[in-house]
Amino acid sequence: MRTDLTNQPATTHRMSCTAPSVKSRQPFTTTPIIPTTFREVRIFDTIASLGDTHGMRPAIANINTENLRHNYRLLSSRAKPAKIMAVVKANAYGHGLAPISSALFDEGCRHFSVTDASEGMELRKLLPEAESIVLFSGIFDSDDAEFARKQTLTPTITSKHQLELLQSAGFSGSVWIKINTGMQRLGAENPAQLMDRCRANGIKIAGIMSHLACADTPEHPLNRVQAEEFSTLCQQLGPKLPASLLNSAGLVALPDEMHDFVRPGLALYGAEPVVTEPLGVRPVMQLTGQVMHVRKIAAGVSLSYGASFTAPGDMKIAVVSLGYGDGLPRAVSNCGQAYAKGMLLPIVGRVCMDYCLIDCSTNHLEPGDTIEFWGEGLAVPTVSDLTGTIPYELFTGVGKRVFRRVI
Ligand SMILES: Cc1ncc(COP(=O)(O)O)c(C=O)c1O
Repeated sequence: MRTDLTNQPATTHRMSCTAPSVKSRQPFTTTPIIPTTFREVRIFDTIASLGDTHGMRPAIANINTENLRHNYRLLSSRAKPAKIMAVVKANAYGHGLAPISSALFDEGCRHFSVTDASEGMELRKLLPEAESIVLFSGIFDSDDAEFARKQTLTPTITSKHQLELLQSAGFSGSVWIKINTGMQRLGAENPAQLMDRCRANGIKIAGIMSHLACADTPEHPLNRVQAEEFSTLCQQLGPKLPASLLNSAGLVALPDEMHDFVRPGLALYGAEPVVTEPLGVRPVMQLTGQVMHVRKIAAGVSLSYGASFTAPGDMKIAVVSLGYGDGLPRAVSNCGQAYAKGMLLPIVGRVCMDYCLIDCSTNHLEPGDTIEFWGEGLAVPTVSDLTGTIPYELFTGVGKRVFRRVI
């Protein structure tokens, strides 16, 4: 059944619905192509006329680095004197590692975290002068240990096995020690012993970190339990060592627990970690498609795969160049919205791999118009709530074939 949201004002109100390696695609070479044969001339002409999307269809994530900088400054001033360790794993949460990390570095950020050695090496190439590149998942094998040594990466470790791998690689840098305070995920069983062994092997301790399980629910009692456990353990293990507990939501839930480093990811990208207590961050990603065709539909005609939507009256439908193959969740079929020209418009019929259909019966849309699926007009937490997921999953689900246009 159609949710008639046509002509509703552009608010980010909650909707309800019953309800899925992100790297920006490399542009064509920037090296000038010197055509020599007829065939190459044709290729050269084509490339030259492709525009900034390089021949990719208009499924575009606009990446607003000004908003990113605003968010970084906002979080820095909130965290002060604690420093920011910017979480840029998973291709900067799908936003593109290169533009995000360089804008953050430019803004003064010197500490970054990724998940593994592969991401760490990629970041080290981009930011040779970053003071630390922390690997949240640590190291898995001797290659990782070697990469950590060569690229001056800072693994987070939890086990003797990881320490031995580092030792064998001749690693003499620093490691963070991760401790479990309630998440029951990663954490050293005997952190004191692990730290002693590190030091005995010439490996320095960068600090002690733990991760919150329920920070996005500030009133959850586990937050305070974890904070207290963390403070106690830090006192026992090394009161002078740098400590880090908070992620984005932690900045809202436990503002008195900043310690030495805070580790925001989500909030840097402009999604409020606790929607009811906004920090004032601004969206960095605007996910868009383009109207390809506007079609008149007569009452009683059904739309898209499965014919799951039938026009209740005569309608106008815009076919838009964004589908689940780009990261638009299929769960928005028949219940989500898109934002165009200051209005929220219903998504009708099933979302396809490359397209979706929106009801523009009462709005003038024409081919070439840009349609936003999340961004300034439609906040990403609204879309994730609707589809029973979280902004992280929506961001990291934006596919390789979506062009990241840095603005
Ligand atoms: C250990 C750790 N710290 C910090 C973060 C950043 O979390 P958020 O994006 O919620 O700020 C993550 C993200 O998953 C994480 O795993």
